[in-house]
Amino acid sequence: MASIARGFEELYGRKPEVISEAPGRVNLIGEHIDYSEGFVLPFAIADRTYAAIAARGDGLVRIASHQRKEKIFSIDINDVKPGSKGDWEKYVLGVLWSLGITSGVDIFVDGNVPGGAGLSSSAALECSVAVALNSLFSLGKSKEDLARATQRAENDYVGVPCGIMDQSVSLMGQAGAALLLDCRDLTTEIVPFSVADAGLELLIIDTQAHHALTDGGYAERRAACESVARKLDIPSMRHLTLDALEAQREKITATEFIRARHAVTEIARVLEAVVALRASDFVTLGKLINASHISLRDDYAVSCPELDVAVDAAIAAGAIGSRMVGGGFGGSAIALIKASDIQKTKDAVLAAFEGRGFRKPRFFTSLPSAGASASLVQ
Ligand code: GLA
Repeated sequence: MASIARGFEELYGRKPEVISEAPGRVNLIGEHIDYSEGFVLPFAIADRTYAAIAARGDGLVRIASHQRKEKIFSIDINDVKPGSKGDWEKYVLGVLWSLGITSGVDIFVDGNVPGGAGLSSSAALECSVAVALNSLFSLGKSKEDLARATQRAENDYVGVPCGIMDQSVSLMGQAGAALLLDCRDLTTEIVPFSVADAGLELLIIDTQAHHALTDGGYAERRAACESVARKLDIPSMRHLTLDALEAQREKITATEFIRARHAVTEIARVLEAVVALRASDFVTLGKLINASHISLRDDYAVSCPELDVAVDAAIAAGAIGSRMVGGGFGGSAIALIKASDIQKTKDAVLAAFEGRGFRKPRFFTSLPSAGASASLVQ
């Protein structure tokens, strides 16, 4: 945290008023159901994005990052509205906009959440800026308010139709635990997830395959669920059972049927996973994780060859459970493995990727970590 303050000072020639941090996330189970009012079970990872902020007397907004220090992006606060200029800076501008900030600010960010890996680097950036602004301007917003504001920033300012999971866990995650989030009303339950105590490790495999939620596949899946809800006259997939879905099969298309089947079965798997986790029944948890992958691959069709190869190789090497995480079409997979199997699993995945001529994957591990926080600089 000290280096973010130093970086700010070197760049802007004065001290920041607030520094903050927010983590990326891994989703244990509950994929593509946050926008269907489902339950999800993510946890915050150790990698995070840091922000340093100070208010300005004029209406100027300046944004810079450690990675591109030489380029300070400037814009008048009155021009901060959807459709404005900006590249990655839009994630920051969107938060200023959705929180209704009217003052100028200097912002400096730095972080180590791998981008494009499906680990929510964008939510980490949005949330670190949001908690910093909340503190700087004494906005008094709750974590739920901030989750909704940062989601709105991403939906309406950046133009990514994401759900609310990533921002919620980045804000509300707790060390040593997964977060059971009810995406209907953002209520949460902390579910202890002490992998190390059980002699396990959660390996994150970044397939290095392209991942962007703006490509259309994500919006299409979301639209399919909304279409089913309309045709079956229910508010969301949360209100559907497998029996009701079967009984009304002729009202929807074959594709909509399998998309809805994923949503319904995945919501059920999350609740079963919570029971398993509370009982330290990792074998059952592993089976649910595997079933989630199969459903995402076959019914929801958001996997890709790299993710499938990573998952299959990890399972063949003895993983208790493995699946793709996040939006899909690339990004990362997770494998719940015995801690002693880590090298063996990595080697198996590396060999499988090499055999298929894929780019070399990257590996990470992370314990469930704390959510976002901000502090005033003295
Ligand atoms: C992305 C989105 C989330 C969620 C996941 C899939 O990470 O940002 O809102 O929909 O995909 O579970």
